[in-house]
Amino acid sequence: PAPGWAIDADVVVVGSGVAGLTVALRCAAAGASVTVVTKARLDDGSTRWAQGGVAAALGEGDTPEQHEADTLVAGAGLCDQQAVRAMVTEGPGAVHRLIGTGARFDSDADTGEILLTREGGHHRRRIVHAGGDATGAEISRALVDAVRAAGTPGAPGTAPTGGRIETIENALVLDLLTDEAGRAAGVTLHVMGEGRRDGVGAVRARAVVLATGGMGQVFSATTNPPVSTGDGVALALRAGAEVSDLEFVQFHPTVLWLGPEAEGQQPLVSEAVRGEGAYLVDDEGTRFMVGQHELAELAPRDIVAKGIMRRMRERGTDHVYLDARHFGAAMWEQRFPTILAACRAHGIDPVTEPIPVAPAAHHASGGVRTDLRGRTTVAGLYACGEVACTGVHGANRLASNSLLEGLVFAERMAADIATRIADASTAPAPPEPAPATARAGAPEPAPGRADAPAATPLLAPEARFTVQRVMTAGAGVLRSAESLSRAAEQLDRLHEEAARALEADGKTAEPGVETWEATNLLLVARVLVAAALRRAETRGCHWREDRPDRDDATWARHLLVTLRPDRT
Ligand code: SIN
Repeated sequence: PAPGWAIDADVVVVGSGVAGLTVALRCAAAGASVTVVTKARLDDGSTRWAQGGVAAALGEGDTPEQHEADTLVAGAGLCDQQAVRAMVTEGPGAVHRLIGTGARFDSDADTGEILLTREGGHHRRRIVHAGGDATGAEISRALVDAVRAAGTPGAPGTAPTGGRIETIENALVLDLLTDEAGRAAGVTLHVMGEGRRDGVGAVRARAVVLATGGMGQVFSATTNPPVSTGDGVALALRAGAEVSDLEFVQFHPTVLWLGPEAEGQQPLVSEAVRGEGAYLVDDEGTRFMVGQHELAELAPRDIVAKGIMRRMRERGTDHVYLDARHFGAAMWEQRFPTILAACRAHGIDPVTEPIPVAPAAHHASGGVRTDLRGRTTVAGLYACGEVACTGVHGANRLASNSLLEGLVFAERMAADIATRIADASTAPAPPEPAPATARAGAPEPAPGRADAPAATPLLAPEARFTVQRVMTAGAGVLRSAESLSRAAEQLDRLHEEAARALEADGKTAEPGVETWEATNLLLVARVLVAAALRRAETRGCHWREDRPDRDDATWARHLLVTLRPDRT
């Protein structure tokens, strides 16, 4: 639809999690005018729900090199080493700058030293946390406060920022605006209930930052909030940007199990609970991760999720248990108040009984492909945070690296944007085109591309649930060529029905947030399934039952996807 209103800014940031707000603050500090648009309220994204924390080599004896080594092991041969190195070396400084922005992390009452915990795949205590298990909520609070202050020049106690930050809430981004040279020139968006800026409008800008978060809602059960519908990846695909590694969906091993029918956002039980000594048991009370990996319950996340799935299968159950009764009431209350409250709200008391848990969709390791400065393959379009594929996660993200990735790459990107918009004659340029194999460090044995589906006409809101059920059945923790082909057929059918309706009646569903969300979910689901089918091996969090081994000779490389222009 044609925009009914338009505003201008130097930079438009889409999304308001750790990545989006950090880039907004840094760009404003460099003097840029920034507009942040976000789909719900400023603190409604995934960041607020993060429990465990931020990984950074801050502990005594820890080094960025050790953090790098753990990240590369978890990434199962597909991490971009340069990107990982940038993240782990700049990470400690980024955490300190976040503290400077106002975030308060848990620290020793006597020495003031930051307290660190452990999570899966980390050989050391290196996770910074806040409020025990409410790290994301604290980061979100600090960043939202700083952004609000930056929108109010001269407000008492505010950090000095150069440019202004304007925020527009309840704004679903629709599509990228481009100039005659094909460079990003802003976005169109649909705004609900924000007074003078209601309906479809546009923010024109010289740099567009996608920081829209993940796509967990593509599955029935996820730790992600309802807003995580893959909007940024869908927009980037429609804009012709390259997307990479979408098949690598991380399933968190320990999500509170609320019954076989539970759908939507499910409560997370942080890895930090295992980091502090909880263990996994089956329905007979037997610890089953011991002997499967040297780190047992603290093995990388894919290994624990697979261990749980296997044991559930062997025992014919749909969940296992996390036992942390030995923590005692005081430790539960002090260290994990959020999880304790969530369990008790569902009638489970972790102080006296083991917690029923099962894996659920948690994090997209893939996304819009970027270089080390957050630039995508479309000039002027940047991506940061979970929506991006910087290469730091490879085939499986190391726990608590995502908030860190958001912080570090937001700062890198802001520096790039600031330099470019300082020179009025320089539009942001796309990164050097990199071959699909460059990041994997392996020779190109076969085309590194998955088949790209066409974009779909608008879908009715109920299609969201069909997409979720199809994806959970066919493209969940366990996948095979058969299950994925079935999912692909069912998703294609949804697409064809919408296309036929458009052809017959000249229109599809009424435009609105829910229709766009359903449409975005279908597009990212189809790309994800195409990539998962194409990757005929098991690697990291991509588990193909029909191809149980890792195949480095053929698959030590990334799968790239762009929508074919003739089909959009
Ligand atoms: C958790 O607290 O277990 C989640 C941490 C993460 O996903 O990085």
